Amino acid sequence: MVEREQWSTYSGFVLATIGSAVGLGNIWRFSYVAGENGGAAFLLLYLVYVITIGLPLVIAELTLGRRAQGDAIAGFEASGPRSSWRYAGALAGVGAILILSYYSVIAGWALKYLIGAAFGPLWDQAAQGYGQYFRTFISRTGEPVIWQILMLGASVAVVAAGVRAGIETVNRWLMPLLALIVVGLAGYSVTMPGSAAGVIFLFAPDWSAIGRAEVHAAALGQAFFSLGIGMAVLLTYGSYMPRGFRLPRSALAIIIGDTGFAIISGLAIFPAVFAFGIDPSSGPELAFITLPQIFLQMPGGAWLGVAFFFLLSAAALTSMVSLLEVPVSMAVQRLGATRRNAVMVIGAITLALGLPSALSFGLLADIRIGRHGILDAADAVVSNYLLPFGGILIALFVGWKLKMGEALSESELGQGWLGLVWLWLLRVLAPLTLTTILLRSATAL
Ligand code: PHE
Repeated sequence: MVEREQWSTYSGFVLATIGSAVGLGNIWRFSYVAGENGGAAFLLLYLVYVITIGLPLVIAELTLGRRAQGDAIAGFEASGPRSSWRYAGALAGVGAILILSYYSVIAGWALKYLIGAAFGPLWDQAAQGYGQYFRTFISRTGEPVIWQILMLGASVAVVAAGVRAGIETVNRWLMPLLALIVVGLAGYSVTMPGSAAGVIFLFAPDWSAIGRAEVHAAALGQAFFSLGIGMAVLLTYGSYMPRGFRLPRSALAIIIGDTGFAIISGLAIFPAVFAFGIDPSSGPELAFITLPQIFLQMPGGAWLGVAFFFLLSAAALTSMVSLLEVPVSMAVQRLGATRRNAVMVIGAITLALGLPSALSFGLLADIRIGRHGILDAADAVVSNYLLPFGGILIALFVGWKLKMGEALSESELGQGWLGLVWLWLLRVLAPLTLTTILLRSATAL
């Protein structure tokens, strides 16, 4: 058997995990979910859930991965390889492919806008209006699929190159660049006349929203999606972590990096939205309809547009790569496939599974699942059910199934109060909160 790869440096590993966490979720999804759920009130709840449930689960996933030095299935082996917990690992592999199937569609939209912004076609659409432009584009049959294939192809190429030469290298280059871009965009946005209302929207809570159950559900769902917990992505990345890397410190870096990115991209988006007198709750279309309109009216807007859609596409790519690695590592370990073959086959399966999502605004627009079209339904299933369910399994496994001493020493939290707080958050708070939210989503159907 070929020897398992490991990250070459600590910074490369941390950048890769932040690359996984930072994605469409921080920019496209965060801005519209925050916009729809009262801005600062949502942000506050989001932070509470990130710290009390997100951080313990990030530590739990990394712990399981490093302990197993194997794929997601190995991560759930406690007493022996025959335990039915292994299905939790297998579920993560399937879930990751499902996420990738529709995530790649939206990533494809971002890529189209990037190319359009860089070469001009995006800016010729002013007369027709971006609402019309966006809807015409996503309702075509061939075009969204082509952009989706390009994004999937790029992810396949990165993962095929391996953990160090592919994943680590790409993240090492892209993540610092993306941080510069988002900070630059935010700096520009907050210095525009009339931008203060956007900053207030993001930071001054409307207390009445805090009591609303759906704002809690949205904040928790966003915390899961944005950190990328529940589908063994961090478990898999953690399995390439050598013993010497400090685990709790890495978890903290992921949390701070991901949340910082979301807040700063909120600062790039909302002040500009308010400066142009636009309603912040315009939904998933915010990034693709509202923002191009704004860019068009700004001095130097074309360059800002290129920077923004590059940010969106590249952030999506580094997340797609992490999702792809989950099933790929399984195929390599379980089926003895080569990395290249595994990634090609899984890429093709993902594309096939993603076609209905890509076509869900055109050819397949009539297919409705409840209130949703196919892509929206896939996203709702993932964020409202699959990720929280995965989170419950991870929390219960680490909290109750692993031996307490093993959990505390493998996580490096130790026997002191810190370790105990972590363990009890996993044992009780996380499963209870997640179950409540799950049941609530299920009954709200
Ligand atoms: N965290 C990524 C984002 O914010 C998406 C993701 C979800 C990645 C689940 C991995 C696992 O876009």
